[in-house]
Amino acid sequence: MSKAQEKWDAIYDNRQYSPTASLVLTQNQHLLPKQGIALDLACGQGGNAVLLAKSGLDVSAWDVSPVVIQQLQDFSAKNNLAINCQTRDVIASPPEPNSLDVLVVSFFLDRRLCESLLSALRPGGLLFYQTYCQQKIENKGPENTNFLLTDNELLSLFSTMKVRVYREESLLGDHQLGWRNQALLVAEK
Ligand SMILES: C[S@@+](CC[C@H](N)C(=O)[O-])C[C@H]1O[C@@H](n2cnc3c(N)ncnc32)[C@H](O)[C@@H]1O
Repeated sequence: MSKAQEKWDAIYDNRQYSPTASLVLTQNQHLLPKQGIALDLACGQGGNAVLLAKSGLDVSAWDVSPVVIQQLQDFSAKNNLAINCQTRDVIASPPEPNSLDVLVVSFFLDRRLCESLLSALRPGGLLFYQTYCQQKIENKGPENTNFLLTDNELLSLFSTMKVRVYREESLLGDHQLGWRNQALLVAEK
């Protein structure tokens, strides 16, 4: 069993199951195609996969934790959602080139994977990405800076794509207002 699996199995064993889609998807779901193949990568409880399936896409959801994949599978069966749930280490087994119309990644960052993610998208394919930044005003998200985005990093990691939506407010202005701590990107290949 990998360290990642051990860590995340323990977390999901103790977390209430309540799948919630991320903001990058809920706010921009009108940009989704009407049909196509979609992947919720490192899906956790699979809130993004649920939204994608309800939008009529052909959805897979992959995570290294068999505990959470079983929870998502049970939820999908109970709610008649056709989600292909798979326990999969996405670093060891990234998505195949040219296999996806939509790719959603939320709160997962491994820079080694970015080239594979880019090549997994078909021409015109959409990437929805959201995760924590180093420049944050609250003590939320990972402590290890390897898992935090530097300034504008999503833009440089996916610089060959067309940016359709981007938000990152950093530490500017009134910290009581706005959307902080994270960056989100919707980009088209
Ligand atoms: C912070 S959670 C985010 C889950 C989900 N995307 C969300 O937005 O709620 C990170 C997820 O990455 C998964 N993960 C970590 N390493 C992984 C790997 N190598 N392959 C696949 N999933 C992995 C964990 O099991 C965990 O579910």
